[in-house]
Amino acid sequence: MINLFHPYMSNKAIKDASQVLKTRWIGQGPKVDQVEKKFSKMFKIPYSVTVNSGTSALHLALILAGVGPGDEVISTPITCSATNIPVLYLGGKVVFADIQKETMNIDPKSIEKKVTSKTKAIMAVHWAGYPCDMDEINKIAKKHKLKVIEDGAQALGAKYKGKYVGSVSDFTCFSFQAIKPITSVDGGMLCTLKKKDYQQARILRWYGIDREFKGDIHWKYQIKDIGYKYHMNDVTAAILSAQLDDWKKISSQREKIAKRYLKELKDVPGLTLLKRHKDRQGANWTFTMHVEKRNDFQKKLAENGIESHIVHVRNDICPIFGGKKQNLPVMNKIESTYVSIPIHNHLTDVDVSKVIKTIRNGW
Ligand SMILES: Cc1ncc(COP(=O)(O)O)c(C=O)c1O
Repeated sequence: MINLFHPYMSNKAIKDASQVLKTRWIGQGPKVDQVEKKFSKMFKIPYSVTVNSGTSALHLALILAGVGPGDEVISTPITCSATNIPVLYLGGKVVFADIQKETMNIDPKSIEKKVTSKTKAIMAVHWAGYPCDMDEINKIAKKHKLKVIEDGAQALGAKYKGKYVGSVSDFTCFSFQAIKPITSVDGGMLCTLKKKDYQQARILRWYGIDREFKGDIHWKYQIKDIGYKYHMNDVTAAILSAQLDDWKKISSQREKIAKRYLKELKDVPGLTLLKRHKDRQGANWTFTMHVEKRNDFQKKLAENGIESHIVHVRNDICPIFGGKKQNLPVMNKIESTYVSIPIHNHLTDVDVSKVIKTIRNGW
């Protein structure tokens, strides 16, 4: 079977994790601080705060953006539900904007139409790691005094107009869960542009306690804001750090596969590839395209031992988000056409050739 996903785990990550496990410090410790600094340096991000998942990063970002009961957050319907659930957790409402067929990303033109006096933030999810139209989104945010949260869970190392995702907007959230290109088994990173947000995130990720409290010798801390247990531990940080060492290799292998798909599938009847702009570089978390007769397409691939999947289901149809299809013309139209095919670091050239040949033979 040529699977859709297959985690990458380096030998160094396994070795480094087991070394930490043999010490007396396996919880949050020096490795956590070290990996945050390394991450910020690698991706030229002002401030990085590790957490235990991408979901935690999103929850914290929404708190820092000031989202609370009754506030509206404009987001995309087509994403992992972890993008939108934290809004509900905070008593907010998710307002779904339409997407662009050619990127699967939220459409700034639709965002503009959804802004109301209750809007507090815009959530920009980079589908499959391909950056959204961030200039347009940040312009709308500035005009209406809104915060921007980038859900870069799938976009580690992606670039927008020469800048790494993570260094563009108020807040960016990354995920290192099992099937992301860089995984630490589970884990996440909240990146901020402002020092104030960084400091508050560090406090909130551990119940609201300032670990750097330097006052009373008996550590009689105060808790001023309600936090939660969102921090990373040193075992995870050691894995993440080692995995980051292979980031260039991981991303170039994925880009090589993507380039083959783009070249060798571009003229296949019934298939439309997603767009690539000159001013941005995606992270190739999945390789998505639009196909006619999707069931037949997936059946044909399955018969040839190739896994394919839609990966995320539109969120608006889930009862927690209202339970009915919103009036989103592009989303409604592409609902039956989008599908992802395998792209990961265990695929061989022969595997990729087989995927291409099978698709080219038609369905
Ligand atoms: C777009 C998106 N947002 C958020 C998440 C949540 O990340 P995590 O599983 O690390 O909590 C994921 C992946 O799981 C995701 O793909």
